[in-house]
Amino acid sequence: MRVLGIETSCDETAVAIVGSAAPGPVGTILANVVYSQQTEHRRFGGVVPEIAARAHLERIDGLVEQALAEAGLGLDDLDAIAATAGPGLIGGVMVGVMAAKGLAFAREKPFLAINHLEGHALTVRLTEPVAFPYLLLLVSGGHCQLLTVRGPGDFTRLGTTIDDAVGECFDKTAKLLGLGFPGGPAVERLAAGGDPQRVALPRPMWRKPGCDFSFSGLKTAVRQKVEALAADDAQGRADLCASFQRTVGDVLADRCANALALAPSPTLVVAGGVAANLYLRGRLEEVAARHGARLVAPPVKLCTDNGAMIAWAGVERLRLGLVDDLDFRPRPRWPLDAAAPLR
Ligand code: KG4
Ligand code: ZN
Repeated sequence: MRVLGIETSCDETAVAIVGSAAPGPVGTILANVVYSQQTEHRRFGGVVPEIAARAHLERIDGLVEQALAEAGLGLDDLDAIAATAGPGLIGGVMVGVMAAKGLAFAREKPFLAINHLEGHALTVRLTEPVAFPYLLLLVSGGHCQLLTVRGPGDFTRLGTTIDDAVGECFDKTAKLLGLGFPGGPAVERLAAGGDPQRVALPRPMWRKPGCDFSFSGLKTAVRQKVEALAADDAQGRADLCASFQRTVGDVLADRCANALALAPSPTLVVAGGVAANLYLRGRLEEVAARHGARLVAPPVKLCTDNGAMIAWAGVERLRLGLVDDLDFRPRPRWPLDAAAPLR
């Protein structure tokens, strides 16, 4: 089975082809191309939706051709075409969905509308033999949730952020320190040379019951600390990054401990862009071990947005016959657990 996946929900235009020889986890990445729009957005300090949509449109056909060439395949060798159909910046999502529908229609292949969050949630099974169900910490630029994952389309949300996402908090910290965009990797790099105990920061939700998160208070506190720093205080900046990262680690570990107690699972999976952070992975490994569980994370380059995660979710859905109609409408909002209250 071979599925082509298109991802255009934010600022990466990404196309991948994933193959799978047998049912169950672990597939093969036959091609994986990403065009990152960072240069387009850098001078604005964040992603500009209109610019993103136009850049996706300019690149998408070329990237599909490049992916096919990399895999040594033609369109007729594919079993289905998948695309992120939400949630995300709707202009970009529409570009990817239209491209996928066009290919599916022209070659009479099934079309698969993929929830971007489901892409993150299932990626781990592309590279590791992880069985359902598992506990998932989904941490990205727009989301911070704990979920039980039972299979494609089958999620129970245990908790979510009541305000900001954790990736957003990394990006804001980086912006305040003038470290550029996206901020997560830059904060992690600077934190490596800092003292994680030096700066005391608030830990919203820490040691409270339940599995919800909050980051807005931390964001405000970081801003106040940055304002109090001298511009040439390189060590102070590194210490602040390290302390910020440790504080986020404290909160994520605490929330995961509650989730593991409420919904015991042999496997804790972390996914989404922030899962690329090796310090945070270490903290989550500790908390998993304390609860008799094992932390499993996708390879770092599959944590941030990519086409392989969409193609793989497509493989998982196609196996179950969960194909979509060509009149499927992109969804700017699309929760994984439709029964959970909107936040
Ligand atoms: O999943 P993703 O690529 O896009 C969304 O779906 O949002 O996540 C992007 C987020 C950004 O906020 C970025 O700063 C963060 O992931 N990120 C990191 C790291 N790499 C990316 N955060 C912390 N440490 C990292 N190494
Ligand atoms: Zn994402």
